[in-house]
Amino acid sequence: MTANELREKFLKFFEEREHKILPSSSLIPENDPTVLFTTAGMHSLIPFLLGEKHPAGSRLCKIQECLRTDDIEKVGDIAHLTFFEMLGNWSLGDYFKKEAIEWSYEFLTAKDWLNLDKDKLAITCFGNDKQFSRDEESAQIWENLGIAKNRIAFLGKKDNWWGPINDAGPCGPDTEIFYWVGESKAPEVFDPQNNNWVEIWNNVFMTYNKTKEGNFELLQQKNVDTGMGLERTLAVINHLPSVFETELFLPLIKQLELISKKKYENYPREFRIIADHLKAAIFLLSEKLEPSNVERGYVLRRLIRRAVRFGRLLEIKEIFSFKMLAPVIEIYGNVYPLIKENKDFIEEQLVKEEEKFSKTLLKGMNILEKIVENQKSFSGKQAFDLYQSYGFPLELIKEIIKEKDIRFDEKEFEEEFKKHQELSRTASSGMFKGGLTTHSEKAIKYHTATHLLHRALRDVLGEEVEQRGSNINEERLRFDYSCSKKPTAEQLKKIEEIVNEKIQENLSVIKKEMSLKEAKELGAIGLFEDKYGERVSVYFIGGEENNLKTAYSKEICGGPHVINTNVLGYFKIIKEEAVSSGVRRIKAILE
Ligand code: ALA
Repeated sequence: MTANELREKFLKFFEEREHKILPSSSLIPENDPTVLFTTAGMHSLIPFLLGEKHPAGSRLCKIQECLRTDDIEKVGDIAHLTFFEMLGNWSLGDYFKKEAIEWSYEFLTAKDWLNLDKDKLAITCFGNDKQFSRDEESAQIWENLGIAKNRIAFLGKKDNWWGPINDAGPCGPDTEIFYWVGESKAPEVFDPQNNNWVEIWNNVFMTYNKTKEGNFELLQQKNVDTGMGLERTLAVINHLPSVFETELFLPLIKQLELISKKKYENYPREFRIIADHLKAAIFLLSEKLEPSNVERGYVLRRLIRRAVRFGRLLEIKEIFSFKMLAPVIEIYGNVYPLIKENKDFIEEQLVKEEEKFSKTLLKGMNILEKIVENQKSFSGKQAFDLYQSYGFPLELIKEIIKEKDIRFDEKEFEEEFKKHQELSRTASSGMFKGGLTTHSEKAIKYHTATHLLHRALRDVLGEEVEQRGSNINEERLRFDYSCSKKPTAEQLKKIEEIVNEKIQENLSVIKKEMSLKEAKELGAIGLFEDKYGERVSVYFIGGEENNLKTAYSKEICGGPHVINTNVLGYFKIIKEEAVSSGVRRIKAILE
């Protein structure tokens, strides 16, 4: 079965059951700056799940392009993707569990539809938690359809509850359908931990609205929200070993074999990651998004760079990412016309971004070579610093070290990495992972911006300026400082400029534990010195790992901070005023 046949069959099935077909919404949600990307078909339907009347009626279906980065680490296995298409049907206060489950089952297994093997199906349903009871009703419906009790597992909220997509909104328990893709016979007893069971379809029973305060209110109507993975379903129908063998990937894989002169079967993980990430990037570029250091643009940048970095591992030396555009057009040109329409823009952006990143890689490479020339071993810490300061891929570090026959302590690297994981929940990676920017991530950005502001204030107004207070929320930072005179407009402009310059310089933020004495010797600003213990942590912005004295900003601080200034965005002072005699206040935002 082709992808198009599957798309058409799905829509036809639900159209016959009185569903109206909606077009796919764009990957970049319209009028919703709180969400980075469309991660599910229901995004555009939220008001209607909450009770507004939909002009097309109460039964809807569509094929939705989606982008999710939560599982980016898993891309490379047989089933995980960042970009995928979701086939979905919705009931807005119309039918509920019985019809939804029965139709899912019929579509998957009936001879006229997908004709999948009933004996390879397994189901998860919502198990109970403190607040909500077990979804016996759904399990019973599945049993009545002939699914054995052993093949039905009850899982908690982490697995069988969907939504809200942001802090608040519609959500509810779900029941998920898995298909056995292992070569052996499907086991009688369903073990959801076994990766040979691949989730293909999710039916959510959207019955609650989670409020901003964290309460669950019963919605005025009972809704159904489903999502079936097109790529996964296509793979199982056609008995293919993974989504990457479907027609939605093969042209990309073939092109990559030509470019790299290597075989997919020898490097499946690298091939899959490159194909997935560049496809996702091309879809984002087709909506005229540009790579940048903030939010959506940052995710796009990371996708391209990660793909390029895996390309270098395949020893592709030339600029290659744009060559993946032709196969994407071959696969999707007729379904998603924007890719063809904007192909010049897409190509230009890919080339530009890959060139930029190649320079960064080169810079890191020079440093790495210098280090290995002078020593016989390479510490995990040095590797980590290279990784952190230059975004230099560990895989490449390892390879070069292997070539040069130098000792490398990988365990130490992992430990360093773990130490910094508390920070990896910060703006950049948190956003990359979740696809959503949360309030705390924004606050962390403001925290780092406060350090830059503090330093810039001293640069412009003199070293006697001292912090008097600081307050951050998700909308702005507020910084009180000692200063006898009102700064001039030019001075404020200069301060703003310096902060933005530092942000654009991609400075790494390094945390070090040391004695208070050492911190002082390095010139760290510490304001409430008698509050500190003997050991303090100091944040350095922009220093070389082995010469922290040269860092731009040095402050004793408990954190957390972002890893690199490049995620902060544009810094803007929105207000400057006096608060009391000799104390002034700046309010600033990051755009
Ligand atoms: N919104 C549900 C999901 O994405 C269907 O799994």
